[in-house]
Amino acid sequence: MSTTTSIARVGDFAGQAVTLEGWLYNKRSSGKIQFLQVRDGTGLIQCVAVKAEVGEETFAVCASLTQESSLRVTGIVRADERAPSGYELTVQSVEAVQIAEEYPISLKEHGVDFLMDNRHLWLRVPRQRALLRIRAEVERAVAEYLDGSGFTRVDPPLLTPSSCEDTTELFHTQYFDQEAYLTQSGQMYMEAAAMSLGKVYSAGPAFRAEKSKTRRHLIEFWMIEPEMAFVEHEENLRIQEQMVAHVVKHVLNHCEEELRTLGRDVSALAKVEAPFPRLSYDEAIDWLQKHDFDIKWGDDFGSPHETALANQFDRPLFIERYPTAIKAFYMQPDPSRPEVVLCADMLAPEGYGEIIGGSQRIHDYELLKKRFEEHKLPEDTYAWYLDLRKYGSVPHSGFGLGLERTIAWISGIEHIREAIAFPRTLYRLYP
Ligand code: 4AD
Ligand code: MG
Repeated sequence: MSTTTSIARVGDFAGQAVTLEGWLYNKRSSGKIQFLQVRDGTGLIQCVAVKAEVGEETFAVCASLTQESSLRVTGIVRADERAPSGYELTVQSVEAVQIAEEYPISLKEHGVDFLMDNRHLWLRVPRQRALLRIRAEVERAVAEYLDGSGFTRVDPPLLTPSSCEDTTELFHTQYFDQEAYLTQSGQMYMEAAAMSLGKVYSAGPAFRAEKSKTRRHLIEFWMIEPEMAFVEHEENLRIQEQMVAHVVKHVLNHCEEELRTLGRDVSALAKVEAPFPRLSYDEAIDWLQKHDFDIKWGDDFGSPHETALANQFDRPLFIERYPTAIKAFYMQPDPSRPEVVLCADMLAPEGYGEIIGGSQRIHDYELLKKRFEEHKLPEDTYAWYLDLRKYGSVPHSGFGLGLERTIAWISGIEHIREAIAFPRTLYRLYP
């Protein structure tokens, strides 16, 4: 009798018979011996079938297995120093669950469009598996940090009657006889929840009909949005840097093999410790002008600016206090300089761009009402948001961490599309 186990756990069964369930990743044969590379989601192991030991019939089953055929294999676990996992399986019997048709994704190089058309199959390769594992660990680390710091998770709605960020980027949909939008950010709802629970966070998708085809933009992306009552600008930044440092450390500790699969330079990640460097928007503009960028006070940064600024540092960089005119209507003005707001963007190193956008929020009723008028926002759909400033309003702050950009940076991948299982980009809704 053999125990059914996973490749990750074969070490517990050295010298014993086990059954593994998985897929054929690759195969080599030398007439009398076949080497089956089997994967099961937890790892990869070489299974060795010797004709003289397994007999004609089993050997023929091994020979019939094509790339990605599903199978059950039983054999004896042998420690082997040369094997990447440290173990090999000496095959006793094999059952083909399904013989795969010729797999479109061979082990050679393919073009990106082809791979994206076959995303449902591309997910199986070690690199994509590593990225999915890292994503899961980033999500776990965020929850671990926030749950451990007194935050309560609250889930805001995805269908909304109003917008939170730029109204030109809304996905419109019909809500029976009413117009509705897919959420761009749960922030406003999280502000309401923070007035109930103090510290809250959400973790879910956001939708933006952005016509940007860059390696940093998705149409559907995930955001982590903490919101905190009685927390002002300074403390907001401290929580962000601690959270991001925790996430990086967690991934370094839990995804060693995955980072190796991706060829990530982990020494760069090891430097990510709080506190993070800070520049004011003013200082950033000065620096850019001194380095021959054509930019003036009041302009927003583009990605070349962000990359140049961030490249000066070996850890994420905060840029704080942007001009009020180029930031969202809800941001609290700096009391000593109302032309700038108490906000910050966190830029990842190595050219990955903005991974967090956050700010202190306006808590004064009159000021917020004035902003609604200036921005011509329909008061009826936002009445509830203004209400929050009537009943025990307090200074409060929050931020949104873009999950895929964070994963792309930590994993060191070129393009954000690989940081989510099924990316939605400007020209892609399939599969
Ligand atoms: O800076 P943003 O637009 O901020 C907000 O939405 C705030 N309401 C969040 C808050 O304060 N609760 O977006 C936050 C982050 C960005 O820094 C970026 O990392 C990510 O979300 N992001 C995108 N990621 C991928 N594709 C896109 N199109 C993104 N747009 C924003
Ligand atoms: Mg932003």
